Amino acid sequence: MKLQHLIDFNDITTDEYDELCRLASDIINAPHRYSAACSGRVMATLFYEPSTRTQLSFQTAMLRLGGTVIGFADPNSSSVAKGESLRDTVKIISGYADIGVIRNPMEGAAFAASLYSGIPFINAGDGRHLHPTQTMTDMFTIKREKGRYEGLNIGLCGDLKNGRTVHSLLRAFTRYNGNRFFLISTKELRVPDYILNEFSGSDNEIIMTDNMEEVIDGLDILYMTRIQRERFGSEADYRRQSGIYVLTPDKLKSAKPDLTIMHPLPKVDEIAYEVDDDPRSRYFEQAENGMYIRMALILSLIEGNPQRRSSRRAYPLPTRRFCSNPICVSNHEHYLPEMTKTVGGELVCAYCDYKII
Ligand code: NCD
Repeated sequence: MKLQHLIDFNDITTDEYDELCRLASDIINAPHRYSAACSGRVMATLFYEPSTRTQLSFQTAMLRLGGTVIGFADPNSSSVAKGESLRDTVKIISGYADIGVIRNPMEGAAFAASLYSGIPFINAGDGRHLHPTQTMTDMFTIKREKGRYEGLNIGLCGDLKNGRTVHSLLRAFTRYNGNRFFLISTKELRVPDYILNEFSGSDNEIIMTDNMEEVIDGLDILYMTRIQRERFGSEADYRRQSGIYVLTPDKLKSAKPDLTIMHPLPKVDEIAYEVDDDPRSRYFEQAENGMYIRMALILSLIEGNPQRRSSRRAYPLPTRRFCSNPICVSNHEHYLPEMTKTVGGELVCAYCDYKII
């Protein structure tokens, strides 16, 4: 794979992704063949935001490839608490490790890290923005369950505004055709326009609804998400949105026998516990698939970038604040250069995809 970093799922071509899925399937079938594939290699995990699953999944993936892991899960226990910039942390880690994994609440942080890194960096979630390895997990699970990425009726339910896994998954599907997406949420928690705009030109249908019961019988996949408490301004705002969509055995009565129920996890109260025993729920398998696809990704990035490089790249300093997203990394790490790109005819911030106004 030619790829140097994985920041956005769209960084990889469809062929490269199919290749990764084949490798992940091979790892599942013959794990012993890969148990020393990354022997002597070190992975650094920089987690500036809480995570159990994603961090453990990455760590286990590297350990199962025979490599070792360093890093932090709590920035307060690292030099970040002393005021170290993201740029310096990344440059230092580039001298220690062979591959880096970053999760950060600032949108665009992984892209920013990649600018200063001499080693491959993987985005493990940047604010509400993107979470490409969860998307790989989700797509790999869909392939294993349904055998295809087209002609599917896919329901996404819950916090579609703040859920980055939803944003990344929808974005990934813009490269396929013939699907119908049922976006089930309250009007306050709808998918942001900048994600929907990316569907223009693709042959997929988008249907927005606030009623799960009305559409559940036609679905092939139901992707549930939790209401993202930590992204609300106040507890009262969160309370107004929580508990509205709860998947129960009763609601599943009218669903297809081969429905696949997915969830990126952690789940809170949006899926009743009894549903775990329904053979249609596949979220625990989905989490396990995530480990295998991450093994495939780590291995491919390390094999494709065998040399650690020094990261002496210099960028011009910005002359103005250019992005209006308050949680864009460019508004917090002030040395970052002004970078924009054009998506669907609109000028957007290259870090966080916000429209430039
Ligand atoms: C998701 C995340 O971190 O965005 N979890 C995950 O990757 N396993 C979903 C969530 O936190 O709701």
